[in-house]
Formats: sequence, structure tokens, C-alpha cells
Amino acid sequence: MIRLDAVGKSFTTADGDTVEALGEASLEIEAGEFVAIVGPSGCGKSTLLRLIAGLIAPSAGQVSIGGEPVRQPRTDVGIVFQAPTLLPWADILSNVLFPLRLLGRRDAAGIARARALLAMAGLAGFEHRKPRELSGGMQQRAAICRALVHEPAILLMDEPFGALDALTREEMALELLRLLAARPATVVFVTHSIAEAVILADRVVVMTPRPGRIADLVTVPLSRPRDFRQVSTPEYDSVAERIRRLIFRRPAVRAAA
Ligand SMILES: Nc1ncnc2c1ncn2[C@@H]1O[C@H](COP(=O)(O)OP(=O)(O)OP(=O)(O)O)[C@@H](O)[C@H]1O
Ligand SMILES: [Mg+2]
Repeated sequence: MIRLDAVGKSFTTADGDTVEALGEASLEIEAGEFVAIVGPSGCGKSTLLRLIAGLIAPSAGQVSIGGEPVRQPRTDVGIVFQAPTLLPWADILSNVLFPLRLLGRRDAAGIARARALLAMAGLAGFEHRKPRELSGGMQQRAAICRALVHEPAILLMDEPFGALDALTREEMALELLRLLAARPATVVFVTHSIAEAVILADRVVVMTPRPGRIADLVTVPLSRPRDFRQVSTPEYDSVAERIRRLIFRRPAVRAAA
């Protein structure tokens, strides 16, 4: 479904220096798979997501989706950015409906879906408020609804729950899994939380510090449906410990119990 072949990205800064944001990354993601990306700040996670989204072009290698090289943003992709990026002059419902408007599909069914998503995200009653009238976490929840409204085959999420409090965060994560169970999509999900990565994903991509490379891919053996109570299982412990070791480059100190 999504394929990265030796993809690298360098940026030229305002002073003319070259910053290698992403080393050489190769990765294959199956249709319907949920892949989480974890790694230290600045290792190129957002860059990787923007490359898959077709928002920036790679300096080396190639990104392809369904066998086609990605050269520009695609209509079958939904994106949640690290910051909510809502249109300040439009109300929340219009913001959520924006992808449907771009696609010429702003019909009654779409409006009903937008309202249902907002209700799911705890934003019923805020449809006609402007973004500035909502808290940061509420804006981010609206941005998540906007990414889902056109039922994209691919969802790219950059720390979508980063601005939420711990409880809302778990609730939104489980709600995302319920939505995906009802309507499957391929998901690439960047997070700083190992627990979130393990509870949500089929596989976790662990990246090294800048310039980011893929240190390893960890398959999550937990059964579905998932629940945050699974963090107290030995299976969770052994996967989470493996991810931590990869991030902090610690040698294995003990075999998992
Ligand atoms: N447009 C740009 N111009 C110059 N440098 C950039 C640009 N975008 C990203 N970078 C650099 O590339 C590196 C990777 O950035 P990126 O935003 O992908 O990191 P990240 O892993 O998402 O970090 P975080 O976890 O803090 O969000 C950083 O060193 C950053 O300074
Ligand atoms: Mg980032």
C-alpha cells in the first residue's frame, strides 16, 4: 500500500546550511495496517509523514502509494498535523466539512457524518463556534474529525493526541480504533508515547536520533480489540521494553519474563 524506498530528506536553512532531516528510510506498510512511529524529538517523524502525504518531495529515494509514485497530496489521504491548523474565519462544522468541499462532496450524508464525528469527539454544541473560541485540545479534536470526514483510505496522524489531557487522550485513541474497526483504513501514527504506540499499532517503527533512520520495526503481539488495561500484561512489557532499548540504544539486560 505505502512504500518507502531509501527515502531521504535534507533541507537548506535560511543561512544556506544543509540539514539532514531524514536519513535513508525504507518501509512497506500493508493496506489496513496501523503503524506507529516513535523516536526522539527532531528525528524526522513529521518529515516522514509529510513525504508520505506528498506535501514535500524527497531529496533521495521514492515514496509510492498503491504502486504509484507520490508527487502531490492525494484525495484519499486524511492528515492530522502536529498543530490543529484550522481556518480561523470558518466555524468548527465548516472546518470539518472542508475536505468534502474541496472534493465537491459536501452533501447531506457528509454533513451528518461531520456532526456525528464532532459528537464522538465531545464537540456537540460547538459546531458554530470559531476555532479561537475552543481550547487547544478541542481544536485538535476538530482537526481529527476533519481528517476523517471524507473516509480516507489512508490516515496520516502527527501526534494527534499530543495536546489532550491523559484521560481524553485514551478515550480518543480507543474511539479511533472503534472507527477503524467499522471502516478500515491504513494508518501511520506519530507519537511520543510508547504506551499509545503499542496499544494502537500492529507494528511500531522506532527511529534513531537525527538524522533519523529506522532503528527497527517491532510487531505488537497484543490481541484486538485493544484496551489500555493491556499495559499491565507481560506481552505489553516485553514490547515496550524492546522499544525503549531501541530508542535509548541500551543493550538487552534481561530476557522478558
Ligand atoms: N522546512 C525545514 N527547513 C529546515 N529544517 C527543517 C525543516 N523541517 C524540518 N527541519 C529539520 O529537520 C529535522 C526533523 O524535523 P521533524 O519536524 O521531522 O522532526 P520530528 O521528529 O517530527 O520532531 P518532533 O518530535 O519534535 O515533532 C529537525 O532537525 C528540523 O529542524
Ligand atoms: Mg514532529
